[in-house]
Amino acid sequence: MERTLVLLKPDAVQRGLVGQIIARLEARGLKIAAMKLMQMDQALAHRHYEAHVGKGFFPGLVGFITSGPLVAMVLEGKDAVAIVRNTMGETNAAKAAPGTIRGDFAIDIGRNLIHGSDAVDSAKREIAIFFRDSEILSYSRANDPWILES
Ligand code: RTP
Ligand code: MG
Repeated sequence: MERTLVLLKPDAVQRGLVGQIIARLEARGLKIAAMKLMQMDQALAHRHYEAHVGKGFFPGLVGFITSGPLVAMVLEGKDAVAIVRNTMGETNAAKAAPGTIRGDFAIDIGRNLIHGSDAVDSAKREIAIFFRDSEILSYSRANDPWILES
């Protein structure tokens, strides 16, 4: 089953929105395969956001993402990468559709609450940055047949 990395960024923790955001992802049918509270340091931020090194917004992004605790999770499910991305909404929260996490709870591109891997390949790379294989659990839930047809 497909897996994706989700970060509930420091603004989500500071604003007390962690529970509400996780509730939306769980309600969608995604399964929590791994989860921890942690703080990113400069090295980890550079590794995670390596595609953005050198861009104008990069120093601000690193300053923000390392500014406080965040929640890192691996979520699992059919089309998990795309499902998380469309539940998050557009990067610029000002343009994110109502009903999405960013569209309901955020207003600024640089304070957009949540990260989700943007492709299956990047999910694999990002998951390996945050979690050891032994921290990612495989289990079944009693209601799985009511969430997925097969
Ligand atoms: P993320 O990686 O955090 O899930 O966000 P994303 O895929 O929706 O957006 P991405 O293009 O990967 O950008 C990473 C983060 O950098 C900030 N950003 N600022 N000022 C700007 O033009 C700009 N562009 C991106 C955002 O906070 C974005 O989440
Ligand atoms: Mg991204």
